[in-house]
This record gives sequence, C-alpha cells and structure tokens, in this order.
Amino acid sequence: MELKNKNIGIAITGSFCTYEKMFITLEELKNCGANLFPIMSNASQTINSRFGSPADFFDKLVTITDKNPITKIEDAEPFGPKNFLDMMVIFPCTGNTLAKLANGITDTPVLMAAKAHLRNNKPLIISISTNDGLGMNLKNIGLLLNSKNIYFVPFGQDDYIKKPNSLVAHYNLLIPTIINALENRQLQPVLVQY
Ligand SMILES: Cc1cc2nc3c(=O)[nH]c(=O)nc-3n(C[C@H](O)[C@H](O)[C@H](O)COP(=O)(O)O)c2cc1C
Repeated sequence: MELKNKNIGIAITGSFCTYEKMFITLEELKNCGANLFPIMSNASQTINSRFGSPADFFDKLVTITDKNPITKIEDAEPFGPKNFLDMMVIFPCTGNTLAKLANGITDTPVLMAAKAHLRNNKPLIISISTNDGLGMNLKNIGLLLNSKNIYFVPFGQDDYIKKPNSLVAHYNLLIPTIINALENRQLQPVLVQY
C-alpha cells in the first residue's frame, strides 16, 4: 500500500513530551508523499509548558504540512460531509481525549474531527501517550480496541518502575500501522515492550 497522495488527518492533543518525536514522524510521513491535514485540540493550542509554546507548535505544523491547523470545532465538522480523508490519526492521543472518544464526547476540534471522520466508515488510528493507560483509562482502551474502524499504534509500558500505569505508543510503528489500517488490519503485535 502506497502512502503517496493519501489524505491523512493528523489530530494533535496535549501530550507535550511526545511532540519532538511526533514532528520527526510527521516529516517521515510527509516524505512518503502523504497529504497531511493538521488539527489541534484546545489544550495543544493554549498550554505553555517546558516542552514549548503553542505558537511554536502551530508554526512547526504549518512548516511540515503546508497547511494551517484546524483550531475550531466548526472548522473540524466538515471532515464528515466533505469526506476527503483516507484516514485520521490522533497523534499523540492523551488519556483525556481517549476517554472522551470512548464515551462519545465531542468538545474539542480533535474529537469533532474524529467523530466526523468515523461517520464515513474510514480508519481512525490512535497513538496513545498516557500515564493512566493501565489505570483509569484501561477500560477505555479496551472499548476502543474493540470498536469498528479504530486501530492502535502498538504500545507498551515506557517506564514500569516509576510510572507503572503509563502506556506509550511506538512512534516508529506509526507508518506501518497506517499502511495496515488502510487495508482494515490492526498491525500486530499490538503490545510491544519498550
Ligand atoms: C506539560 C504537560 C504534559 C502533559 N503530558 C500528557 C501526556 O503525556 N499524556 C496525557 O494523557 N496528558 C498529558 N497532559 C495533560 C493534558 O494536556 C490534559 O489532560 C489536557 O486536558 C488534554 O486535553 P486534550 O486531550 O484535549 O488535548 C500533560 C499536561 C502538561 C501541562
């Protein structure tokens, strides 16, 4: 499966520590010839942290994707009726967004875009990064793993000693996950040790 000219929504949420690797992975994806359509959650647009400023993240996304990220719910809704994406990736996906998605909540541009995209019966990929993956959010991961058209970038425990409930996706498996999901397959194994 070629990624050239595939239209891929890239929905970014507030797991700021993963952004450095995320940008590198997005550049790789772009180099495969995919057209990337960025979307930012409210948190990713507003929270300043030791990992950087929202304005810098916005600019970096523009540089990599050649497009202004979608930052409003009303601008994310047309992904449904326009139906031009081949796939959408929530990368990185926080515990917060994961929990809301699993429970049908649509109160950020990322969740609106995901809901609009899923109505078109096309694949949605989740790249988790959350300290409560084996805690409060495990039930939501289970629910989404068992949901139609939803696929996961294989994930594992990134630091089982200091953060025993933390789960993080393997970014280097994003592209193979996309290729498999475009053929309606979950890349296996889905659990991969760090
Ligand atoms: C510096 C910083 C790093 C964070 N890292 C993570 C993270 O890796 N995973 C996560 O689930 N939440 C993380 N959070 C919390 C989320 O940003 C927060 O839950 C936010 O409401 C997420 O909103 P969103 O899912 O709409 O982007 C972090 C917050 C801050 C300030």
